[in-house]
Amino acid sequence: MDWGLKNRLSRMIKPATGRSVMLACDHGYFMGPTHRLENPRKTIEPLLPYADTVAVTRGVLRTSVDPKWDTPILLRVSGGTSVLHEDLSDEGIITSMREAVRLNVCAVALSIFVGTAHERQTLLNLAKLVNEGEDYGMPVMAITAVGKELEKRDARYLSLACRIAAEIGVQVVKTYYCEDFSKVVEGCPVPIVVAGGPKLNSETDVFQLAYNAVREGAVGVDMGRNIWQNDNPVAMIKAIRAVVHENASVREATQVFNENKTSTRTVEDAIHA
Ligand code: R5P
Repeated sequence: MDWGLKNRLSRMIKPATGRSVMLACDHGYFMGPTHRLENPRKTIEPLLPYADTVAVTRGVLRTSVDPKWDTPILLRVSGGTSVLHEDLSDEGIITSMREAVRLNVCAVALSIFVGTAHERQTLLNLAKLVNEGEDYGMPVMAITAVGKELEKRDARYLSLACRIAAEIGVQVVKTYYCEDFSKVVEGCPVPIVVAGGPKLNSETDVFQLAYNAVREGAVGVDMGRNIWQNDNPVAMIKAIRAVVHENASVREATQVFNENKTSTRTVEDAIHA
């Protein structure tokens, strides 16, 4: 592997543990001002010191992340759809590799929609990006997107999508955690990180997801809503860091969360309010 590509990858997946806590803040590219990400700077800034990398679009990077921060950036470069459309798979590449280099990011990320009407288009987008990434020493992360079809997230489908991404030549794959997740990891010869998905019912559910994922072979998480939609986002990311980098148990992560929370309003309180 080329030195530049390897160096960028090491900024994202920390060599000390071989793991990564990526903070996903790229939802606006098709969801608009997502709940609690309405003002990206306000959401992102307090979390930056605890993220191994932060995933954003170039628009949010330029407007809402101060260049003085040295947290590595994972640049979302696919898009072209909105949540108003039934089919979210019709994506193209929205940011050039040249721009990614100019922005000094550590990797670029693109969604693939395997099994959809735009499967071929999104896979060829990925291949183009990997070819350019090789030229510039830029790692590429594929995201095995399912659009609105959340029920697709089983081991059989995710194994297929992750393996295809790896065969095209990406350096990292982001997918969902699922039952039999170790089979997904086994069939994918590049590192996998898991998304958090829509907000879960409790903090312990989130810690359990992260714990299971790393135990079954993920190198970490690329998590958004379950961190910044919580009333205590800093406590959440610190607890997730404990799971990912220190192999903390769910109980230990809960302890980290409780020690760091500033608001006493829990997810359960909010649900029962
Ligand atoms: C979708 O907008 C992106 O791929 C997100 O980065 C991904 O879904 C991870 O965020 P969350 O943990 O909120 O699902």
